[in-house]
Amino acid sequence: MTEHQALLRWVREITELCRPDDVYWCDGSAAEYQAMCQQMVDAGTAHPLAPERRPNSFLIRSDPADVARVEDCTFICTPSEEEAGPTNNWADPDEMRDHLRGLFQRSMEGRTLFVVPFSMGPVGSPIAHIGVQLTDSPYVVANMHIMTRVGQPVLDVLGREGRFVPCLHSVGYPLRDGQADVPWPCDPNNRYIVHFPESREIWSYGSGYGGNALLGKKCFALRIASAMARDEGWLAEHMLILKLTSPEGEVQYMAGAFPSACGKTNLAMMRPAIPGWKVETIGDDIAWMKFGADGRLYAINPEAGFFGVAPGTSHKSNPNAMETLHGNVLFTNVAQTPEGDIWWEEMTDELPEKLTDWKGRPWTPESSEPAAHPNARFTAPAHQCPAIAPEWNDPDGVPIDAIIFGGRRGDTIPLVQEARDWQHGVFLGSIMGSEKTAAATGNLGALRRDPMAMLPFCGYNMADYFGHWLQVGQAEGRQLPRIYHVNWFRKDAQGRFIWPGFSDNARVLKWIFERGMGRVEAIDSPIGKLPRPVDIDLQGTELSTESLTDLLAVDAAGWKREIALILEHYEQFGGRLPDALWQELAALEQRL
Ligand code: OXD
Ligand code: MN
Repeated sequence: MTEHQALLRWVREITELCRPDDVYWCDGSAAEYQAMCQQMVDAGTAHPLAPERRPNSFLIRSDPADVARVEDCTFICTPSEEEAGPTNNWADPDEMRDHLRGLFQRSMEGRTLFVVPFSMGPVGSPIAHIGVQLTDSPYVVANMHIMTRVGQPVLDVLGREGRFVPCLHSVGYPLRDGQADVPWPCDPNNRYIVHFPESREIWSYGSGYGGNALLGKKCFALRIASAMARDEGWLAEHMLILKLTSPEGEVQYMAGAFPSACGKTNLAMMRPAIPGWKVETIGDDIAWMKFGADGRLYAINPEAGFFGVAPGTSHKSNPNAMETLHGNVLFTNVAQTPEGDIWWEEMTDELPEKLTDWKGRPWTPESSEPAAHPNARFTAPAHQCPAIAPEWNDPDGVPIDAIIFGGRRGDTIPLVQEARDWQHGVFLGSIMGSEKTAAATGNLGALRRDPMAMLPFCGYNMADYFGHWLQVGQAEGRQLPRIYHVNWFRKDAQGRFIWPGFSDNARVLKWIFERGMGRVEAIDSPIGKLPRPVDIDLQGTELSTESLTDLLAVDAAGWKREIALILEHYEQFGGRLPDALWQELAALEQRL
């Protein structure tokens, strides 16, 4: 199994603390996955779907109080508050550790502690890193099987002294004195998702859901990894990675940062509306990028599966995702059809007559609540995606040609703009704003600044993170990707989306591609470089050239309002915000 003494010692220590009935080391096998699913079925957590419709797939209903990431219970414990910065919840590391030790004490009584060794990225890749999650949740183990690479090969790479990120997780529902279990154990009043970036540790208590509990994803691959990347000179980002191939067979790789539930998965799996162009998927949520010897930025997808938002996914919006979901999928908080299959809002044009909703209650189109929770999810293996790129598993990663930032903005922000240079690109990323979605708890629709889509995921002071981005662009001999900002969500006076979106977004990707090839020009404007409307391929759309011109216009009044908001956003960082960004803001104001 392993002779890694530090790992063995840690597992012993946690066993002493949490007092599970058993300790089980996961081997990552198919049999183990099936055993976890069976255990969930026996416990009433999972319900097998009809095998003829959705083979080897399960519906899981969470506790209605445990349905999304909980940002107000998420902590960054750096030695000083300043190091966590104004956008993170800080707690004193020693005090938090004491508090957590109290919570975890005997927290696994009556349960099994699963040891899950996992690799983020292809096992042994120079861009990958290893974690070990200790958890008392079979749901987490099954999800980790899909989302990461689990098992003995990981321990083999770790060897006797390899570095790993310890990830401790408990649902916080011990079964003492023969107490009966519930289908979804959790402790909603005592949730702590805690990160120690200095020692690179994660402690998560009280929630079994998604990013709170699958610790390889947001906690490790973004919050802890962003701090590792700062120290080691690379980038850990909330980005999809896609491969775009032209009709002539030329290839470019693009990474894109969009806030949660803004269509990253749809973009990464898109079937372009323009003939001859092809999008293939490398990843849909996270990119780890390190510079190669040739000075280019190489990206891997550290994950092995998709943990996607189900509502809104359909054969229209994302046919490749729908095909990915043909079987071997865990569905959480979706609705169930009488035939034993799944359904969610916007999956079909017509509403089903009857369903069982995500809380297990009868549902009809007259019901006042949605049938699936707005943050209902699917967990599916990446290799099942028909659009997966053959190189998605390449340990060396793929060289990134363009980085795309984007948010959900009803006004002001144009369809696409190109940064003048790296520094201006970092500025565009730093001012990203988006209307809030259901991926985290809180008010829907309110505008929030979400720099580089990392607001909930940056494991240290965001101002220092901007500084890190600037610094990465300054090292000599680097062939930096160009940076873009896009917005698919501009609305007209009637509140309708102007840009058709989805597969038509390929028209914008095509322009970015042609820019990379040096084949089209861009017009200088006060806000950045903009396409000439004739260079956006509109063949086959109903969109008028007028609407396109509107989408590409500089809304000076809107930008002036925006500047006031950016100022407010920047001021929270005080003297820590890099001067270069203040200069960019001043220059923008002047140009307007
Ligand atoms: C996610 C998120 O789950 O960003 O990917 O919330
Ligand atoms: Mn995400």
